[in-house]
Amino acid sequence: MPNTKPDAAPTSASQTKRDESPVAVRIEGLSKSFGAHEVLRNVSLEVAPGEIFVLMGPSGSGKSVLLKHIVGLEAPSAGRVTVDGLDAADPATRHAVHMALVFQAGALFNSLSVYDNLALYLREHRLGTETQIREKVRHALKILSLENAERKSPAELSGGMRKRVAIARALVMEPQLMLYDEPTSELDPIMSATISEIIATLKTQTRVTTIVVSHDRDLALGIADRVGILMQGELLTIATPAELRRSTDPRISDFLNPQINLSSPRFKQLETAKTS
Ligand SMILES: Nc1ncnc2c1ncn2[C@@H]1O[C@H](COP(=O)(O)OP(=O)(O)O)[C@@H](O)[C@H]1O
Ligand SMILES: [Mg+2]
Repeated sequence: MPNTKPDAAPTSASQTKRDESPVAVRIEGLSKSFGAHEVLRNVSLEVAPGEIFVLMGPSGSGKSVLLKHIVGLEAPSAGRVTVDGLDAADPATRHAVHMALVFQAGALFNSLSVYDNLALYLREHRLGTETQIREKVRHALKILSLENAERKSPAELSGGMRKRVAIARALVMEPQLMLYDEPTSELDPIMSATISEIIATLKTQTRVTTIVVSHDRDLALGIADRVGILMQGELLTIATPAELRRSTDPRISDFLNPQINLSSPRFKQLETAKTS
């Protein structure tokens, strides 16, 4: 349960023209437990409007749980998360701020064409006539080089293309905040590089505040303005890619060492050995 509420009057964005400026995300002393299991411990960080922030960390370190707090799918056990100054745990925030979460598995409807997957949100929220919707959908498909896939079912596409469809679907929402959970997992290095490039390009084109959860080092060092490293629920550091490369902290150099698989249980053993 959130223990604090913002005093400021909630914005009612639904009636007025949508604010499309990028938003700030602030996490202050966030702790989260599931029963006796403390998954996040006193995490504080701020993401500036228009920034690309990459949150890295081994498997099970709490990255997805942190992301869920930003979109209001989880509420803090202690501390506070705000988006554009609004309490993220308050359901009204989701209506006031346009956030798009690109899930790890894409979460696309195989029964719908790629085109209809993209149009769905706009139709459901009556965001324009069919002609206006077509324009937005075609624009997003073009940015992600998916023009030839619009009549296909997501089930017919490769993993890399499905990720691009998931990103395109987020893009038609014209978000002020884009959140990606492991956008390059299960992709080969070339497709991973393509997806990283797309994330960076979208940020440049739309200035959308971008938070990426990933254990892809190339992605983090390649596109992040700043990187946060989460280990066993605690933030080890927040640094720019250049600062990370210069770091002499062995726990950080392990992160940059391609020999070490961050998703393997072996990394956890190594991490425990180093910190004990
Ligand atoms: N709803 C939940 N109930 C109980 N435990 C959870 C829940 N969600 C996540 N966890 C646990 O929290 C830890 C961190 O999970 P997660 O954030 O998904 O890790 P990752 O860094 O791999 O994304 C894991 O041990 C996971 O089992
Ligand atoms: Mg995860």
